[in-house]
Amino acid sequence: MEKKVFMCKHCGNVVELMYDGKGQLICCGEPMILRASQTADPAGQKHVPLIEKVDGGYKVTVGSTLHPMEAEHYIMFIELDVDGVTSRKDLQPGDQPVAVFNVAHGKDVAAREYCNVHGMWRDK
Ligand SMILES: [Fe+2]
Repeated sequence: MEKKVFMCKHCGNVVELMYDGKGQLICCGEPMILRASQTADPAGQKHVPLIEKVDGGYKVTVGSTLHPMEAEHYIMFIELDVDGVTSRKDLQPGDQPVAVFNVAHGKDVAAREYCNVHGMWRDK
């Protein structure tokens, strides 16, 4: 099951909820904002991750048009889930918005990524 990601609109903290309890996440004195995954990008598909099966694993590219990787606007991480096992690559400004995961091929494959400006996106 996809873990929820929240952000603080004041300080920019981004947190992933490991297990869903009943409490509300608070940061800088206010409830954190749920960044629900989006799948359709009206701005030219710069956010939806594309999964390619490659020798020894999968390659995930963010955007059919590559997403910017600038200091103020970039992809913070890319995740791949293969049959319930999740791998993550953290990225920095200046990196390519691409991750290669050396994992066994599986049946149920999904990817998601987090843009520091536009939030969470997944492929399906
Ligand atoms: Fe973005």
